[in-house]
Order: sequence, then C-alpha cells, then structure tokens
Amino acid sequence: MKGLKEELDQVHKKENKMIDFKDIIANKIALCIDFDKNEIKKYIEIPPNTDMGDYAFPCFSLAKVLKKSPIMIAEDIKSKIDIDENIEKIEVLKGYLNFYINKKLLTETVFEEYSKRNENYGKSDIGNGKNIIVEYSAPNIAKPFHIGHLRTTIIGACLYKVYKYLGYNVIGINHLGDYGTQFGKIIEGYKMWGKDYDFSDNPIEKFMDIYVRINELCGEDEEVLERCRDNFKKLENGDPYCVEVWKKAKDLSLKEFERLYDVLGVKFDSYNGESFYADKVDEVEEILEKNGAISISEGAKIVDLEDKKLGVCMIKKSNESSTYAARDLAAILYRSRTYDFDKCLYVVAEEQNLYFKQIFEVAKYLGLPEKSVNGLIHVSYGMTRLPEGKMSTRNGNVVKVEDLLQESIDRVSEIISEKNANIENKEEETKKIGIGAILYYNLCNTLAKTQIFDWNQVLNFNGESGPYIQYIYVRTKSVLEKVDYIPSYDEVDSSKIQDKNSLAVISTLYNFDECLKMVIEKNEPSFLTRFLIELAQNYSNFYNENKILVDDEETKKARIYLTKMVGDVLKTGSSLLGMEMPNRM
Ligand code: ARG
Repeated sequence: MKGLKEELDQVHKKENKMIDFKDIIANKIALCIDFDKNEIKKYIEIPPNTDMGDYAFPCFSLAKVLKKSPIMIAEDIKSKIDIDENIEKIEVLKGYLNFYINKKLLTETVFEEYSKRNENYGKSDIGNGKNIIVEYSAPNIAKPFHIGHLRTTIIGACLYKVYKYLGYNVIGINHLGDYGTQFGKIIEGYKMWGKDYDFSDNPIEKFMDIYVRINELCGEDEEVLERCRDNFKKLENGDPYCVEVWKKAKDLSLKEFERLYDVLGVKFDSYNGESFYADKVDEVEEILEKNGAISISEGAKIVDLEDKKLGVCMIKKSNESSTYAARDLAAILYRSRTYDFDKCLYVVAEEQNLYFKQIFEVAKYLGLPEKSVNGLIHVSYGMTRLPEGKMSTRNGNVVKVEDLLQESIDRVSEIISEKNANIENKEEETKKIGIGAILYYNLCNTLAKTQIFDWNQVLNFNGESGPYIQYIYVRTKSVLEKVDYIPSYDEVDSSKIQDKNSLAVISTLYNFDECLKMVIEKNEPSFLTRFLIELAQNYSNFYNENKILVDDEETKKARIYLTKMVGDVLKTGSSLLGMEMPNRM
C-alpha cells in the first residue's frame, strides 16, 4: 500500500493536466481495501443522474472476494476513506458508494485546461509512437458508390481524425476494389460496344451498362465467357489493350469518387487497392505453403478452417487466378512490413463479418510479428435501409449517394427559407448543414445497428441531429457577438457558476477526454456524437434558465466564459466527425 498516498498527491500536482477525479477516487478506495487501483477504476461508473453523485463504485463483485455483503463493504470503505478537498461527500446507496466531487474544483480544472488549450481542448499525445492504419471507403471501380460505401467513408474518416487528435500516427488507406475477374468481362464488353458510349458524362453508369450486357451474353454464349476469362489472364500478364481499358475504367471512376470525397472533406494517405497486391500474392501462397496451411480442393488452393467453424478460405482458384482473400492477405503482409502497425482497422460492412474472421485466422500463418496479428480489427457496421427496403444497387431501388447529399442540401434550403429567408452566404451555409446532417446521421447509431434512413430524423433541427448541434453552436456565437468582451480565465470566479444547469454543462465538458478515449477503445464514433448532443442539450437548458447578460459583472463573466468554451468544444468535436459549423442558421 505504501506509495499510493504519494501517488495520490502527485495527481494533484501533475502539471498541464486536469484533475483526474476518477483516479483520485480509485486511489482512495485502494487505500481502504487491499486492491489494485486499476482494477477498481474499471468498476467505477458514472451514475445515470447527478442526484446519485458524479461517480459510483459498485461493491457487488467485491462481495464474493471479501465474503461480506455489498452494503457492509460500502459502509466499511466509507468509514475508512480519507475525504479531502476533491470530494464533497460520499453516500452509500444499495451496495453502491456514490461520490460527489467538489464542483468548484471541477469548474476550475475544466476552465483552466480550456484556457491553456482553447480549440485544442481534449487533444493529447497518448498515441505517440503508435501506428494505426484505418482502411475505409474502398469502393469498387466501374460500379456505383452506394450508401454502404458512404457509411464506411464517414466512419473511417471520423476514426482517422480522432486517432490523430490523440497523437497516433495514422495512415488512411482506400483499398480500392480495382481488380478481379469481372474486369475480364468489362474489357470484352468494352471491346464490343465501347465506341457506342460517351464516357465523359456518368462513366460509371456506362461501364455498369456494358457489364450488364456482357453478363447476359456470357449466359447465352460459352465462347464469350471463355474470352472474358482469357482477358482477365491477359490483364494479369500486362497485355497493353486490357490494361488500357482497365486503367480507363479506374481513372474515370476515381474522378467520380474524388468528387464525393471533396464534398465530404475526406482524404486518404494511400490509394493502394486490390490491384496493387496482384503481384504480391505469390509470396503469400509460398509462406502459407511453407507453414503447412494450404490444402488442395478441386484444383484450388485453400486454407481449411473447418475446425474453427470458419469454413474454407480460398487462396488461388483452380485456373490459377488470385482471389480477393489472397490480395487481402498480401495487403496484411505489406502493411505490417511498411507501416509496422499497432492496429489495422477495416471499416467494412457486416456482410463481410465471416470473411474477415477467415482472413484474420489465415494471417496467423503468415509469420508476422504478434503485434500485427493481434492488431487486425474488423470495424463492422450495419446496413442502411430505406424505409421500403434495402438500399442496394441490384434491385432497382438505387440511391445514388450524390443525389442523396444534394437532396439533403435542398431540403435544408427549404427549411431555412421558411425560417429565415435572408442569411448571409446562404448557399455555403446550407451545404454545411445538409452535409453535416448526413455525416452526423451515419455516426450517431452504434455501428452494429441497422439504420432505417429517415429524413425526419436526419434533419430534425430540434432533435438528435447534426443540425441541432450546429444550431446550438450558432447560438453560442450570437451570444458572444452581443458581449463587449470575452474575459480571460483569471477573471472568472468559478463560485459564480455553481447552479445545476451550469454544472451539468461543466461536467459534460470535463468528460470530453474520456469520450475520445472511448471512441478509439471501442472504435465507436457514437460516443462522440452522444457527447456532442449532451453538450448541446445541456447548454440549451443552461441558456434557457440563465440570462447571460446579467447586471452582476462576475456572474456575467463566468457565463460568457462557459459559452465561449461550449462553442469551441462543439466546433472541435464536430470537426472530428467531419462536420463544419455554419456561421448563421
Ligand atoms: N471493395 C469492397 C466492397 O466494396 C470492400 C473492400 C473491403 N476491404 C478489404 N480489405 N477487403 O465490398
């Protein structure tokens, strides 16, 4: 136990850090019962409402270990615990110890931290020296960019930004679907009908059309099918014509995708997609062979994963063509060597859950450092459905992502016109709100959840939506425009801002750090969207209950300071979602 007391004192003194109340509480509990502080920390909860304190320690799991009732344990800790200035009071409630922290200290530590960091509030260097790959978007060339690709693009870009904000070295990769036997068909179709199409407009649609036509023909004519297969082999061997057609499809598709990425403000560090790995699959095969993982099934080379209930993973087809999986395994090998990654996240829809389990299992046979094998993570997300059904490219119920974004902007424009016809830079602001609404919507549900797309939710200016957060942000701005000056931290007296509504805002602000850590721990952006909604709602309550421009100068200063901070944190947090803030709404 010795040393803990010293550590506790250290926590107070640690420079450039907010007071870590949870850590202090865990320390205090650890001093009472002979238990590991970090273990205790894991159990400490934030109660559902502040009447039950700011932190709660449930004593239930200790009951088994200490062979005493939870209430007795709680009472025991309470009687022994050393209450200092950090803690206002401790209460025992049904086997819980509820801690009420010193709100004035809380206010001061939050404001002080903000005074030092401003828009960088919450930023940290916990990720220094760690390499994180975020693979996202990964559309298929010559095929439409659908609503599922929109979701991975938005989720991936958000995770990318949050990791970066926490000091990680992040590499964003767009693993383009730019390879595969279907290109043998596209090349054949292009050879036959290419000249009939004008590719300068909507090229992806034209390629799709060609693909559908050639597929039909293949169904009727075995000889055409054979030529398609042959084309793919020729493409693999670098035949100039085949490469030219493939490259045309790729360049034109990329141009279309990049238009979307621009609108969404998304960037990548690498566009190495499937084709990049085509000449790297042989090494994968060799290593797997050497490590005894390969078996032959009907002429194809496979890794049998039946004993793990994961079926089989095909590495090479019977006609010697490489597979999607082989290219992914080559990518793992390449990325481990090139980036020495600590984590490699694959933001890909749930349809590929089994597939990723398979390749992660096979990756164990690649002889990689343990860190790489353990760092492979499938960030799976649920489907987006239209109210009438699945949003897919196959059943005619096609929603083009560009149209969806435009519709959002148009709808916002209408809503704004009804409310407030003449705002400055209307077009620009409308775009920020329309796009922001779609961004927020794609991040606000737990990733695994299937979402039913609903405009009423996406554009609910009063509900849990992007526009709501933007609206509250704009409100903070207009408050600040009305004041003559913004006080500095030294001028703020924290005792002037201890009412319930103010404290709710301050507690939320305090939790920003923790929220960002949760985002990367669980690879779950909804922690951040929920944080922003809570902050916006709490500020709204604060604003409704407290006049800001009051006569009492000290109170006014504190309220202005809080307003300024809320505006900045809303903006910072939103920028991590990819959402820009309008100046007017
Ligand atoms: N291109 C694929 C698709 O659109 C997604 C690629 C996912 N990433 C990967 N490494 N397999 O379905």
